Amino acid sequence: MCGIVGYVGPRQASDVLLGGLARLEYRGYDSAGVAIASGGELKVMRRVGKLVNLTQAIGKTPVPGFVGIGHTRWATHGRPSEENAHPHADCTGRIAVVHNGIIENYMELREELAQNGHILRSETDTETVAHLVESYYDGDLALAVRKAIKRLHGAYALGVIHLDEPETIVAARKDSPLIIGLGKGENIVASDIPAVLEYTREVLALADDQVATVSAGQVIVTDLEGAPVESEMLHIEWDLAAAEKGGFADFMLKEIYEQPKAIRETLRGRMGADGIIQLSELEMTPGQIASIDRVFILACGTSYHAGVVAKTLIETWARIPVEVQVSSEFRYGDPIVDDETLVVAITQSGETADTLAGVREARNRGAKVIAITNVVGSRVTRESDGVIYTHAGPEIGVAATKTFTAQIAALNVLALKLAQAKGILGQERIAALWADLNRIPDIVEAILADLDAIEECAAAYTDVYSTLFLGRGVGWAVAMEGALKLKEISYIHAEAFAAGEMKHGPIALISDEVPVVVVATQGHTYEKVVSNIQEVRARGAEVIVVATHGDDEIKRHAEHVLYVPATSELLSAIPATIPLQVLSYRIAKFRGCNVDQPRSLAKSVTVE
Ligand code: AGP
Repeated sequence: MCGIVGYVGPRQASDVLLGGLARLEYRGYDSAGVAIASGGELKVMRRVGKLVNLTQAIGKTPVPGFVGIGHTRWATHGRPSEENAHPHADCTGRIAVVHNGIIENYMELREELAQNGHILRSETDTETVAHLVESYYDGDLALAVRKAIKRLHGAYALGVIHLDEPETIVAARKDSPLIIGLGKGENIVASDIPAVLEYTREVLALADDQVATVSAGQVIVTDLEGAPVESEMLHIEWDLAAAEKGGFADFMLKEIYEQPKAIRETLRGRMGADGIIQLSELEMTPGQIASIDRVFILACGTSYHAGVVAKTLIETWARIPVEVQVSSEFRYGDPIVDDETLVVAITQSGETADTLAGVREARNRGAKVIAITNVVGSRVTRESDGVIYTHAGPEIGVAATKTFTAQIAALNVLALKLAQAKGILGQERIAALWADLNRIPDIVEAILADLDAIEECAAAYTDVYSTLFLGRGVGWAVAMEGALKLKEISYIHAEAFAAGEMKHGPIALISDEVPVVVVATQGHTYEKVVSNIQEVRARGAEVIVVATHGDDEIKRHAEHVLYVPATSELLSAIPATIPLQVLSYRIAKFRGCNVDQPRSLAKSVTVE
């Protein structure tokens, strides 16, 4: 995710900005830049790639000055490039803006600004903010920013400077974090606490719809109408290492907790006011979508499990047959795909060698390929016909967590789009499903707020050697993902099966030494799953069940029950996954494993 730092005070702004941005490097980024009020001019320097490129450029051409804003960009709109890197300036070159978040109505704003004679130089949503501030500026930067942000739909944390007010930064936020580190005779605006810890531990946390005017000696916070308001003050106790992880012990745990946000961001802006699902990335007319007669999904590992969930969603809602294959099999097989097949390549990193080879193979055979990825500018985005981004922010832990649930969110959108374009689901049904889908982030929050049962369960199974995971329908995909998470971070053997397959062989493995994890949330096969539980218990296994709140009966069949709130069956994959992620995490921690960097694994598997 992008990082913001702003400085006003007696130090050289470039030193504080570069130091602060370095503290935010762990968040991931693809370009960096600063804008500094320097000798009566606004100097903007931006470089693609690592921060060291920007640091070297400033080393060669110093930018002296005491007020400035800086940014590390994780691309969301437009590829990683110098033109798209922040800060963005207005037409006069006197205003500069840094931004985290997504401006949903930026296309509309760009058109309006262009019609009014503004020259936009980048592909970003952010640049519209600089020009909006320019158009509203009349001698009061805070007022111009307030007017500009009233025009924005979406999420933002903003830092804005103007040469006419060279001792001030105006900062504002909505749905994207922004804090102000309060120093003695200096203040630092930042998107995250590590950037300010070198200078202060006293922090003002801006709330949504608050605007701060920050100078070296004071910070004035108002609401959107300009009325003074109070902000929360915090004293930070964490050291730097803890702060980078937001106070969490590991990146994996932090990323588990970031899932509500990742899902919300991925769903954001996907439903139009006209009730039409917005997925222009498909670059297909409704007629072309209606003619798709087959979907082929390619992916590896966790992304493959998201594909298995998608098969059920697309087949049920859009009535299009879906095949899901691991990319390494697809690329060397003789797949039946042609120009009426939609191929969906799912890869959080966008760099997985087998999936990329599968994409090439599918396109050679005439198929249209849509990638679902979390990384803007990754290779899959250049090799596919269209890209749907998950907006999960960078995932640093090697084990995929938030990218998995964000993939499922994006695949829900795709399945609804196909169902709508094909006319299989009526408008009312689509609206109801959309409303249900938008409740999932709150459900995930509720699960993460009450982890006692998982903690207790993890403590009981820290020393097991082998486990089985069972489920049916989307619960089978969840079981596969649960088993993968456990094996990759705790090194406990874990195998998943479709619960109905158990009696065809795996049941021979059942004993009192092999705990069985069963996904038994409510659905049309619930009774069958309960029968499977009874079969394994009859052979001595201890059972851990993921079940729906209110299902008290299930307690009679299990040693541990991990409850999740009720959802419709097809939407249960995300909620049911969360307890299994946390269970794996807790077991791995009890065993002393390095959950962020498990042995032998890599975040991007760029070789065969
Ligand atoms: C997930 O926890 C694993 N690290 C791994 O299975 C991963 O999902 C797989 O390598 C695919 O990666 P991708 O999504 O980047 O293509």
